[in-house]
Amino acid sequence: MDKIWAKVQIFAINILAIVWRPGDESDDWCSNERSTINQLLHRALLLARYSSPMAAACFHGHLSCASSPASSNLGLVLSRKYKPWPASTFHLIVGQELVTRWGFQIKSSNGYPPNVVSSQKEEQYTEHFKVEQELESTVSITVVGASGDLAKKKIFPALFALFYEDCIPKHFTIFGYARTRLTDEEMRNMISKTLACRIDKRANCSDKMEQFLQRCFYHSGEYGLEENFSELDRKLKEQEGSMQCLAQIVGRLANRLFYLSIPPNIFVDVVRCASRSASSPTGWTRVIVEKPFGRDSQSSAELTQSLKQYLTEDQIFRIDHYLGKELVENLSVLRFSNLVFEPLWSRQFIRNVQLIFSEDFGTEGRGGYFDNYGIIRDIMQNHLLQILALFAMETPVSLAAEDIRNEKVKVLRSMRVLQLDDVVVGQYKGHTKGGRSYPAYVDDPTVPKGSLTPTFAAAALFIDNARWDGVPFLMKAGKALHTGRAEIRVQFRHVPGNLYKRNFGSDLDKATNELVIRVQPDEAIYLKINNKVPGLNMRLDRSNLNLLYAARYPIEIPDAYERLLMDAIEGERRLFIRSDELDAAWAIFTPVLKELEEKRIAPELYPYGSRGPVGAYYLAAKHNVRWGDLSSDNNS
Ligand code: BG6
Repeated sequence: MDKIWAKVQIFAINILAIVWRPGDESDDWCSNERSTINQLLHRALLLARYSSPMAAACFHGHLSCASSPASSNLGLVLSRKYKPWPASTFHLIVGQELVTRWGFQIKSSNGYPPNVVSSQKEEQYTEHFKVEQELESTVSITVVGASGDLAKKKIFPALFALFYEDCIPKHFTIFGYARTRLTDEEMRNMISKTLACRIDKRANCSDKMEQFLQRCFYHSGEYGLEENFSELDRKLKEQEGSMQCLAQIVGRLANRLFYLSIPPNIFVDVVRCASRSASSPTGWTRVIVEKPFGRDSQSSAELTQSLKQYLTEDQIFRIDHYLGKELVENLSVLRFSNLVFEPLWSRQFIRNVQLIFSEDFGTEGRGGYFDNYGIIRDIMQNHLLQILALFAMETPVSLAAEDIRNEKVKVLRSMRVLQLDDVVVGQYKGHTKGGRSYPAYVDDPTVPKGSLTPTFAAAALFIDNARWDGVPFLMKAGKALHTGRAEIRVQFRHVPGNLYKRNFGSDLDKATNELVIRVQPDEAIYLKINNKVPGLNMRLDRSNLNLLYAARYPIEIPDAYERLLMDAIEGERRLFIRSDELDAAWAIFTPVLKELEEKRIAPELYPYGSRGPVGAYYLAAKHNVRWGDLSSDNNS
């Protein structure tokens, strides 16, 4: 009701303002900034006098182009008119973000008001409060590097899925930007081949695709040329409001998101051009960057510094797509909303934790990128470490982004710097199996001959805090292994004074509980328990309490990029990496990476399709650990 009333008021005041204008306004008041400000202020004051604060709040979009005195005038008038509301309320409304949301709203992935706590303000985003409403904003998403693999395989399909699910603001436009010369139609053709509807959502799929494609445009340009971004800016403006004047009247903000799907050596050029020539004049401008964020502490800090010449920290969304995976997202729910887990989550009950990533294919075609980074930088320092941080952090004060990220930083900073003795590296070699031959890493034509870059690594990490003192966190990541999988394995301690000891024989490790969180494929959570085999004998076996997602939730699980894109649009930063988090992550791995490279440590060769180098077993054994994924009772 309030909403309708507010709209009626806005409409009436607009008519009034058009008919009756004070001062010497030019007729073209939409294009005349000064008179626009006067008009807007005038209408805001009218609203304040004659209507409700909620309607006045809708004029926020206008006030963002008005000066701050206009904002404070509005605050004063509002506080005089609405005496029962303490003046501080209006100062709060005018001076800060208003978190009330009504009408259409997209929700961030945790359903929590997005970004309610933020350590830094988006300085370039001059609005002081926001009431997000269907009519109020447009969002333009520019995928820079639109003809690349990531864009085609992940980003455009994720954007389409969000559109299909109504999880993207109603007024959106998508732009592809790359050097390749393409027309809008050619770009639509290119991406239409990659779009798919979920199996359970086939209704109107082709109509939806068509509608989506009509919102996609293309601009070709160089990555480091500001004039090319100015042209993009013009095209963005055209789409954002061919009726710019009307858009201003209804207070529509033009928000812009840039997704940098490009090699890291051109990040800074693109950010410079985009921020100088194509950032939003009225709404927010955000930039999503994909790893690699440097190669070590120093290069990462330099990259952050360079990006911050053009962007504030709050505008930078560093993506780690593992944080968008369903089971990783579920980690906090599992820990913090089940009494049976959280009390056991410490050195007192947990013997070791294993974070395992394996792929059953090699670097095929990506050798050029990969050889410069290796598996530790590609998987461990980011994907596995992020999972570890979420797994091991203390309970955050709330689910707000900064509270969670503060806890992650704390746990990362409590970690011991990784030592060379606690690392094993490997590289796959060619192998023939069943009449088929598989290439060695160095057979990849994009990989330099004699490369020592590891395609496999195992590492033992430790968190030196009260909760985790002495508990090994073992990581293992490899390409061209016998299986493709990502999982977390939590091995619990022995039951003290176990009455059934003799039923287990001498190997008590085999009888301990193990909790497995299988991130992919076939998402599942299962707990290995000891159980009596039914019958007259007292025979025990290990069984699983099994939550298999496919059986329990008959829906298709969204791709990680969907969740992350939705959150970036919504300004929810919880699943993105803050710069101090990144620094802490690099601090753990940088010394060992340097040592491996300086000492030219040769990786242990393992056959393509095998279980990896034997050194990984010895590393685990050194810390009294057995890899859970290789045990005989592992249910894979
Ligand atoms: C990327 C790595 O970050 O993650 C790739 O650069 C890896 O090397 C990929 O293949 C794995 O992602 P996913 O989602 O397929 O497990």
